[in-house]
Amino acid sequence: MLSFHRAVEKEFAAVNQLIVDQLQSDVGLVENIGQYIVESGGKRLRPVVVLLSALANSYDGDKHIKLAAVIEFIHTATLLHDDVVDVSTLRRGRVTANAQWGNAPSVLVGDFIYSRAFQILVEIGDLAIMGLMADATNVISEGEVQQLANAGNAEVSEDIYLQVIYRKTAKLFEAASEAGALLTDADRTAMASYGKHLGMAFQIADDVLDYLGDVELIGKNVGDDLAEGKMTLPLIYARNHTEGADRALICDAINNKSAKNFSAIVNLVRESGGIDYSMKCAQAEANLAKQALEGLSGSPFVAVMNELADFSVSRLS
Ligand code: IPE
Ligand code: IPE
Ligand code: MG
Ligand code: MG
Repeated sequence: MLSFHRAVEKEFAAVNQLIVDQLQSDVGLVENIGQYIVESGGKRLRPVVVLLSALANSYDGDKHIKLAAVIEFIHTATLLHDDVVDVSTLRRGRVTANAQWGNAPSVLVGDFIYSRAFQILVEIGDLAIMGLMADATNVISEGEVQQLANAGNAEVSEDIYLQVIYRKTAKLFEAASEAGALLTDADRTAMASYGKHLGMAFQIADDVLDYLGDVELIGKNVGDDLAEGKMTLPLIYARNHTEGADRALICDAINNKSAKNFSAIVNLVRESGGIDYSMKCAQAEANLAKQALEGLSGSPFVAVMNELADFSVSRLS
């Protein structure tokens, strides 16, 4: 358990219990796959963001527990779908659901978990929050489709990359943080900005980990992005700062969606400064997340949100 989990320990336990309870189904396969993905853990960062945002704004009701479960369900459903699309075989240190059961069950159980999230949202009964979540899930799918459309394209720019990661990842962090504030009368803009920049920092760091990560530690395979023909920030920087055969090695790997030359490309990414540059960008986003909180009072939960922003980058080391 990380320090930010401890800060909301009681609420976090209630969220985890609710997640397990809400996966119940009369259809065996739904329950098996649902339990499999949920039991394998995950950092549960997004539900923690919901809890922290609500508590930092002095929320004293109990809807934040359900809201946190909703956000984790939306996240879990996108992962089930994402691993099918990305043909990934390892997630949370375990064989992915698609590798274990096949693509069709993964997609369909993803749909079950998505729709269960919206059933819980109806129980919460707040139209503004429902609207926020409907928009977020819509934008996430746009981001995933946009990324898919760019797969195998070695010319993707940094701007397009940033647009994709905002949509596929940062949007849900933004919605998590904003929705926590929406439970209260507090101004939601600071929390929305916090979540957005936290999500950007987190995804940039995740993309660095795909080149540098320890498989044991991240619970996912490294080199997947290259094999998917996905141009992420470390590689975009390396492409822009190499020429001749080195640049061709990068572009060919993306065009052919091949991780065959992964270790040579990791070296190019490092030597060109792609890792350092990406880490600087991630830290800059984490700093913007912290800046968004500056106007808030000295709540202990705000302090934890600052720690979480730093964690999103420091998990690199
Ligand atoms: C994985 O997110 C998908 C990305 C946005 C990179 P997490 O790394 O938060 O996944 P879990 O829930 O902890 O496994
Ligand atoms: C995950 O993107 C974002 C969503 C699931 C929407 P990635 O494909 O980069 O994440 P990992 O590497 O599979 O966790
Ligand atoms: Mg993926
Ligand atoms: Mg990835």
